[in-house]
Amino acid sequence: MTTNPLSTSTESARSVAADAIVIGITQGPAGPVLAPGAVGVDEALGGTLGATLTALGATGKQDEVTKLTSGGNLTAPLIVAVGLGDFDSDGQLAAAEALRRGAGAAVRALANGKSPAIALALPARDDAETEAVALGALLGSYRFLRYRGGDQPARPTLTVLTSAGGAAEAAARAEVLGQSMALTRDLINTSPSHLYPESFAAEAQRIAADAGLEIEVLDADALASGGYGGLIGVGQGSIRQPRLVRLAYSHPDATKTVVFAGKGITFDSGGLSLKPSNAMETMKSDMSGAAAVLAALQAIAALRPAVNVVGYLPLAENMPGGNAQRPSDVITIFGGKTVEVLNTDAEGRLVLADAIARSLQDSPDLLIDVATLTGAQVIALGTRIAGIMSNDDAVREGVVDAARRSGEQAWPMPLPPELRKGLDSPVADIANVTGERWGGMLVGGLFLKEFVPDGVRWAHVDIAGPAFHEGEPYGYTAKGGTGAAVRMLVQVAADVADGRL
Ligand code: BES
Ligand code: MN
Ligand code: ZN
Repeated sequence: MTTNPLSTSTESARSVAADAIVIGITQGPAGPVLAPGAVGVDEALGGTLGATLTALGATGKQDEVTKLTSGGNLTAPLIVAVGLGDFDSDGQLAAAEALRRGAGAAVRALANGKSPAIALALPARDDAETEAVALGALLGSYRFLRYRGGDQPARPTLTVLTSAGGAAEAAARAEVLGQSMALTRDLINTSPSHLYPESFAAEAQRIAADAGLEIEVLDADALASGGYGGLIGVGQGSIRQPRLVRLAYSHPDATKTVVFAGKGITFDSGGLSLKPSNAMETMKSDMSGAAAVLAALQAIAALRPAVNVVGYLPLAENMPGGNAQRPSDVITIFGGKTVEVLNTDAEGRLVLADAIARSLQDSPDLLIDVATLTGAQVIALGTRIAGIMSNDDAVREGVVDAARRSGEQAWPMPLPPELRKGLDSPVADIANVTGERWGGMLVGGLFLKEFVPDGVRWAHVDIAGPAFHEGEPYGYTAKGGTGAAVRMLVQVAADVADGRL
């Protein structure tokens, strides 16, 4: 997957050679208001743009797209006005998100048309705004076409109009993030008959070679002899054997090491604790954490923060085959802790326990796991907001803040000690589920916490909701894999490099 061609230009919206010019309009008290960047277009139209847009019913609300002809007043024949909501009224971060969403919605609205050259005359007054416009446009142009026949639609070229100083660097950063998020989306959207542990590991090998990352892949024999009972147990009901991928990025000036571990269940049928069929339909996305970790390492290798980063991808397919693990089986996680598997559908925590336990060999200063771990996360926080749990208050707040500054939504969640006793097992060190129905996201976190020794700073990120979008596209978010957690992980690495986290 390569992203669409993107560049910046200081040319005017009036004379830039393009098929469509995107401008922004905000929601003013008395109707739509032209956003910075649209003024030149309005002047070329003799100051009629506001009145025309009002007559067309435009209000400036987020995701609203209004198309009009330039009437020969611009080089570009088409003007696309996109709503930015109350852009600029709620601080810089909200403004950046309004721009990403606006750019994304506008480019999506042109995706099926004959507009291969799109120039964006949205507010891009500084690096942050330029990066936001560029990233929104790139993500809005994302298409997953692997299984589509017929003619491939033209890929639009994107030009961000800006006279800001560091525009080229801002656009380059957007390209790095856009490409990594597109990689995540592609992996998630790929059919699980084509993306299984072995093929995922091969893809990781290709990415690692391109990015200059160190990589090691443990196959099923190595996992069995190495004592990775979680991966072996979860993977044994499938003819697709499990893998553990370890990726490493290093920097000569690094003084800290961050470990990321991402749940990589390439399909979650539930195993013998079989899911109902409708709940299985989206379970090709159960490797979203692993995809985000791989993509974040790819982006980090390009952005080169001064920190060492290790990524673990525990990959397995959770199937109910004849050799599947049974409810009541006892398995031994890497490092020796035993788990009574009472529900084979609580499998993510088993493979992550192996990855977390193994990652202690890297002496992490910070350990973050990312997982589509629980349906309870979606019940608690909905489909767009990740839940962040930690054994350290400052780490939890720091990860939530990193997510927010990177443009992602996340919320702090507790790990109430009183829920831990529900995981007591009469036969093993711990059971993988409780008999209790409530607080399932927190119980998932408490289970993982058992594998993190005291003194190791750790956070658990549950992205069950945000990883996969089932509704209508909005802003820069398409149907299917979203790329959730990529930006937050890249920001976490930067924050550790800066001594902020
Ligand atoms: N992969 C699922 C969680 C999930 C559900 C992700 C919906 C995205 C959308 C996970 O493996 C799972 O099945 N969790 C169980 C845990 C339960 C058995 C304790 C769940 O949430 O029901
Ligand atoms: Mn499951
Ligand atoms: Zn799962």
